[in-house]
Amino acid sequence: MANRLPVDLERLPDGTTKWKRSPGGLVTALEPILRRNKGAWVGWAGVADADLDPVVEDGLELYPVPLSGAEIRDYYEGFSNATLWPLYHDVIVKPEYNRDWWNAYVEVNRRFAEATSKAAAHGATVWIQDYQLQLVPKMLRMLRPDLTIGFFLHIPFPPVELFMQMPWRTEIVEGLLGADLIGFHLPGGAQNFLFLARRLAGQPTSRGNVGVRSKLGVVQVGFRTVRVGAFPISIDSGELDEQSRSKSIRDRARQIRKELGNPKHIMLGVDRLDYTKGIDVRLAALHELLDEHRVDPADTVMVQLATPSRERVDSYVQMRDDIERKVSRINGEYSEVGRPVVHYIHRPIPREELIAFFVAADVMLVTPLRDGMNLVAKEYVACRSDLGGALLLSEFTGAAAELRQAFLCNPHDLDGVKDAMEQALNQPREDGRRHMRALRRQVLAHDVDRWAKAFLDALSHSGAAGPALIAP
Ligand code: ADP
Ligand code: G6P
Repeated sequence: MANRLPVDLERLPDGTTKWKRSPGGLVTALEPILRRNKGAWVGWAGVADADLDPVVEDGLELYPVPLSGAEIRDYYEGFSNATLWPLYHDVIVKPEYNRDWWNAYVEVNRRFAEATSKAAAHGATVWIQDYQLQLVPKMLRMLRPDLTIGFFLHIPFPPVELFMQMPWRTEIVEGLLGADLIGFHLPGGAQNFLFLARRLAGQPTSRGNVGVRSKLGVVQVGFRTVRVGAFPISIDSGELDEQSRSKSIRDRARQIRKELGNPKHIMLGVDRLDYTKGIDVRLAALHELLDEHRVDPADTVMVQLATPSRERVDSYVQMRDDIERKVSRINGEYSEVGRPVVHYIHRPIPREELIAFFVAADVMLVTPLRDGMNLVAKEYVACRSDLGGALLLSEFTGAAAELRQAFLCNPHDLDGVKDAMEQALNQPREDGRRHMRALRRQVLAHDVDRWAKAFLDALSHSGAAGPALIAP
């Protein structure tokens, strides 16, 4: 179960409807897993007041949960995306703590719990996804004690000092503790949560560090043992690898290079238009490198593909203006007619076209100020069976813990980003091939099936005896 179904309902002008793929990394990761394993998906269809019956769409069983216009405003745009999202991403923008939004969050979480309670067979396993649904584990356990309940957080879990801002911090920790297994991308997130379970929920927890896919932490909640672990998510890397080798994609990649004027260097950014992604950082770095004649506008282009996201949330409106101003400044100063330096597309790009862009790009720019994982970095690597290309990767992404051979940078250090960008643009071919080979080994071995299996195996062993505990 996730806030969103893997597809959004689109209402067409003639009154008919159709389903289209929903945005974001959660859907990218989970869709192939659910297709390969039998299961149902409970979630919102992406539009207001759609009271739909369960449907089977393209082989997936979907259970739509309706949201009213007011709930989209208060639960989705408000509490989920103007409170939790910025709080969990290091308060890059200031989280708003609004009591009406919180009430809507509780209400909608209850609706998801009830819908799931109706859809799940006796003794079934339910896997709850992400920050929009943190109260569901406890609510669902109260409705259906027979279920095995897992929870996975797809975004960072914040440092304790920041989490403590949350007026409803105890309710959230207790909500999560309704699960049998709580998963985070990184050990640090799991450890922050263990501390808070002791401190806020007053439960004894295990001591010592949590490992990656190993050494789970434990919270003892009465007679129940809740496990807490780190499971870095991934992509369907084999599938992407295969698709990127096809002739049609190769041809399209060559054509893209030609359409861009066959420049010496193509840099690429692929993101939801979100302030966490550091799109402003890479534009600022490029602008200064052009000013300093370290990048030549005659032989370098940057392509930024940006999917529209959360377009009615204030901080997103402001960020879009800021990004678009930065793009036009660079183009105003450095483009020639018919040859822009920055190509900016504010639309979702079809999957095959995106793969062709990955194959065509010399340098992939992944510069978030904070990101739970960042699947785009892994997608780029999976598409480079030719061992070409370079990955510029922010240290503040979950992916940086695994992709050590990338050009790592601190997005708060603009000089550092510029140096890394320049190095990536000019890397010797043999070094590039060596780095890419190592990156690919990591991404192809640790795919999303392995992630799901590690989580679900740990969930199915959740009854086992735990280690010694520290009292709260
Ligand atoms: P997030 O989950 O925060 O959106 P991720 O990098 O983990 O970030 O996942 C984003 C997913 O959305 C990836 O699968 C990526 O390919 C896809 N995506 C991002 N930008 C675009 C775009 N402009 N067009 C189409 N797909 C995109
Ligand atoms: C990230 C979040 C997902 C979310 C996606 C798209 O991947 O972790 O939970 O679905 O972004 O955002 P949206 O607000 O459009 O659902």
